[in-house]
Amino acid sequence: IMDGNGRWATQRNKPRTAGHKAGVSALRTTIEACATYGVDVLTVFAFSSENWRRPDQEVSMLMELFLLTLKNQAKRLHKNNIRLKIIGEKTKFSESLQSKMQEVEQLTSDNTGLLLIIAANYGGQWDIEQACLQMMSYASKENVSLSDLKVDDFLSTAGIPEPDLFIRTGGEHRISNFLLWQLAYSELYFTDTLWPDFDKDALDLAMTHYSSRQRRFGQTGEQL
Ligand code: IPE
Ligand code: IPE
Ligand code: MG
Repeated sequence: IMDGNGRWATQRNKPRTAGHKAGVSALRTTIEACATYGVDVLTVFAFSSENWRRPDQEVSMLMELFLLTLKNQAKRLHKNNIRLKIIGEKTKFSESLQSKMQEVEQLTSDNTGLLLIIAANYGGQWDIEQACLQMMSYASKENVSLSDLKVDDFLSTAGIPEPDLFIRTGGEHRISNFLLWQLAYSELYFTDTLWPDFDKDALDLAMTHYSSRQRRFGQTGEQL
């Protein structure tokens, strides 16, 4: 969860939008570090289903920044063998943003490196709800029993492994309706570092913390 852009800007007597722009650079650094490290999947929270509640001006700036960043970074993502997938309720976005999203997803669809998932107009509750609805319609259409279907297969992250490590920058200790189902057994890491200041060293620190965790998945430490 890339949080703290607004506060980063306010601390510098800049408009919040400057924080979002700086946030894009931090994202680029993180994507490239993850690709270099051989991380399989990086999922970033770019815009929550609740972020529409922000002032109109900030929302429209974020939409513009999203479109501009997709335009500017598509080639670079592709060159770095990164596959882009966008999750969330995309129909709420402008036609031009939706078609750009689709275009970059298509361009990078055969890439075999890092899978970069951008959660945009995403909410964990929405994801679970839409999965249940799809499951029900699939069950009736294909005439199979609901009990033979798995929720995981209908989430927007179907087929993608659950996150090992969850990182939230910006000092808040909450999930803010991010991947609710998928985070069931993720290791949680919170840092006060504001997102625009998040860099390779900050990522290394998060990974070091992760490496000291014992993942028991319900078992005892002795069993492992
Ligand atoms: C996260 O930073 C970016 C988005 C939610 C789009 P914020 O904009 O929430 O920054 P703070 O939390 O106000 O500092
Ligand atoms: C979460 O940050 C969403 C994103 C980073 C995109 P928020 O800043 O919107 O979360 P709350 O409102 O503090 O919980
Ligand atoms: Mg915030």
